[in-house]
Amino acid sequence: MAGTPGTSPADQAREAAVEAALGKLDLDAKARLLSGQDVWSLPALPEIGLRSLVMSDGPIGVRGVRWGADDPSIALPSPTALAATWDPELARRAGVLLAQEARRKGVHVLLAPTVNLHRSPLGGRHFEAYSEDPYLTGAIGAGYVSGVQSGGVGTTVKHFVANDAETDRLTVNNLVGERALRELYLAPFEMIVENARPWGIMTAYNTVNGTTMTEHHHLVNEVLRGEWGFDGYNVSDWTAARSTVADIEGGLDVAMPGPQTVYGAPLAQAVRDGRVEETTVDTAVRNVLRLAARVGALESVEPAVTEPPRTVDGEALAREIARRAFVLVRNENNALPLKPGTVALIGAAAREARVLGGGSATVFPSRIVSPLDGLTAALPEGSLSYAVGADPDTELAVADKGFELRAVCRDADGTVIGTRGASGGQIQWTDSDFPDGVTHTNLHTIELTGTFTPSAAGTHTFGIKGTGSFTLTVDGTTHYDDIQRPADDGDPFDAFFGGPAPHAQPELTAGEPVEVSLTHVVDLPEDAPFKVVTFALAHQEPQRDADELIAEAVEAARGADTAVVVVATTERVESEGFDRKNLDLPGRQDELVRAVAAANPNTVVVVNSGSPVELPWRDEVAAVLLSWFPGQEGGAALADVLTGAYEPGGRLPTTWGSLADAPVTQVVPEDGELPYTEDLFIGYRAWEKAGRTPSYPFGHGLGYTDWTYESVEIDGTTAKVRVRNSGQRAGREVVQVYLARSEAGPDRPARWLAGFAAVEAGPGESAEAVVELPRRAFEVWDEATDSWSLVKGSYEIQVSRSITDRRLTATINV
Ligand code: BGC
Repeated sequence: MAGTPGTSPADQAREAAVEAALGKLDLDAKARLLSGQDVWSLPALPEIGLRSLVMSDGPIGVRGVRWGADDPSIALPSPTALAATWDPELARRAGVLLAQEARRKGVHVLLAPTVNLHRSPLGGRHFEAYSEDPYLTGAIGAGYVSGVQSGGVGTTVKHFVANDAETDRLTVNNLVGERALRELYLAPFEMIVENARPWGIMTAYNTVNGTTMTEHHHLVNEVLRGEWGFDGYNVSDWTAARSTVADIEGGLDVAMPGPQTVYGAPLAQAVRDGRVEETTVDTAVRNVLRLAARVGALESVEPAVTEPPRTVDGEALAREIARRAFVLVRNENNALPLKPGTVALIGAAAREARVLGGGSATVFPSRIVSPLDGLTAALPEGSLSYAVGADPDTELAVADKGFELRAVCRDADGTVIGTRGASGGQIQWTDSDFPDGVTHTNLHTIELTGTFTPSAAGTHTFGIKGTGSFTLTVDGTTHYDDIQRPADDGDPFDAFFGGPAPHAQPELTAGEPVEVSLTHVVDLPEDAPFKVVTFALAHQEPQRDADELIAEAVEAARGADTAVVVVATTERVESEGFDRKNLDLPGRQDELVRAVAAANPNTVVVVNSGSPVELPWRDEVAAVLLSWFPGQEGGAALADVLTGAYEPGGRLPTTWGSLADAPVTQVVPEDGELPYTEDLFIGYRAWEKAGRTPSYPFGHGLGYTDWTYESVEIDGTTAKVRVRNSGQRAGREVVQVYLARSEAGPDRPARWLAGFAAVEAGPGESAEAVVELPRRAFEVWDEATDSWSLVKGSYEIQVSRSITDRRLTATINV
């Protein structure tokens, strides 16, 4: 029923408690509740027994209110990896683990999942969203939301809607046709609302068809709440709320972060001035109180979940998801699994694994298993060698190995007012998280101070990430004493996501510690929208000659039975706040792969990226395994799969191809507008329409066994597919069902994903995959009547291993 919360006795009890609490609040308290009290939380209202509601990013872990390595979190594989499992039940289990993490960290609401679509491969936050297909995105997202909420923790499905790229993300006006909006971009949100009843939604920074999303009365009040019956809370993306009246009337319940927002005192004033009805404020407060009641932050009533699920082993789950997500896109002559023999492991990312994407999705795991760690543990002693080959990271990284640092806070007189250990060189403190005795009024400087013991002799580079006034001293010499200025695109998160600048290049001796100090003058204006101190000491090891490194790797490859090259993107390539300029692997990694492949025909390439990159050498190597950002246990999972202890389970959730062939590449607005001119045709829909062949199609992925598709039987709108494991070992197969239409009718893609199901079978055994085909797969959005319309007639059912690998067909008439 549209707009009404659940009707079970427990739901009714919570609704009654919400009404009772609302009735006790005066206008000022109500307006205050809708405005962040700091970066991550809402104010407590003790007079109604309401605790402070705490939110946290998401999606691969729960960071908590502390933003640093001193409060670690389990880091699961990237969302693209989760989608590559094509397994909503595994997504649900990921959610259960995240609820457990949230409870451990005192978090009530997770700011996840991200269900925007992979409209263009250039989207910078691609790794953080699931897929180019709305159905797959909705199915994985619904699994994730059910899992988190089964643990009594809220979710915030984001970013509603059409936040599919990052360029000018705060202001871009995305012009999206009504059918594309309904059939593509809104579809995952709708599916999740229908199947998993999320307790929250986040409205995006961007504008859609002329109205900024935090003020979008039509899409929020009429579509999301009215048509779909969403009864959760609606929070702005961080700093996205810009107008008191338009936001509250557009259905925005909560403006984050605080303390300076357009709600709170300005909202109470708007009611007093007669510009906003108090009943409109009441509606928003009700939504927040309902959330509080569900998560157990409203004392007067039982939460939605009284018995949290059984404890989950986070490390084991991270490892399981990673190996289930790895997509084996090429495996000539069964190069994988590895045969007994020697292995030359090559690549900077094999040692310094890139396990997660950058930006607000960052969490800090307590350990990272690199491919080198994983393979060292799994392979017989003496059979593994390692060479860097080529380092894609030309930039300095946050100071880490060899550093012993602490943070010292001083007031304006230079008196020490507090200290805190700093396990890495990064400071990212909100004002609710300053060391004891430190407040944003008495804090004047923070000094990161301690020692660095080099492991290698040579020219070390030191630098600074962040904006404002800094003094950098290494080994008694002051190398920098000046102001670093922000980039001028106005993104409030530049200071978090911008790159470090190099400032000192001393010659150091291996094993001899030197003193390092970085002092930052903290400047937190009273009227800053949110109060976070963020900066980092950055460092880079002495750089070796690049030709020499490649030559060394080639030698190692030549002498081994198998060469395993790990190639990767960097944080400059895949993060938040900017889009990608190309799909190239950074640095000299393509050259490295070609040189190694020429020296050893048995070369296996592991691609460590969250989203598509070009693989120009793909036909010159024996095997290509896409590992995504594999999470903290990625190296262990990689060893599981390379050795054959497990098969790689993933199928592509997004088409991989070259940028020159990619059909949708426009992500840069012109005059503030980004027209989605491709309309209904993104991802595989667009590749097929353009008649272009990608490197690897949507749905593709090999395991370690073979499958024969024996029969398909249609029963109503259910497809029953019998498949047989015709290979030598047990395996898991994802049976995909696409629909195609040959009769005249509304414009539709050549085929589209209608459903999928996975089966497991031992060698020689058969299994039946039962795939339900939802009514929506046969419908289109009718712009004339503003409603869904069933397109009657005959459809071909294509039972496939990928969009292009069709195994069986049948016909269905609706
Ligand atoms: C991101 C959101 C995130 C928020 C809080 C924003 O920049 O777009 O996804 O939840 O920051 O970190």
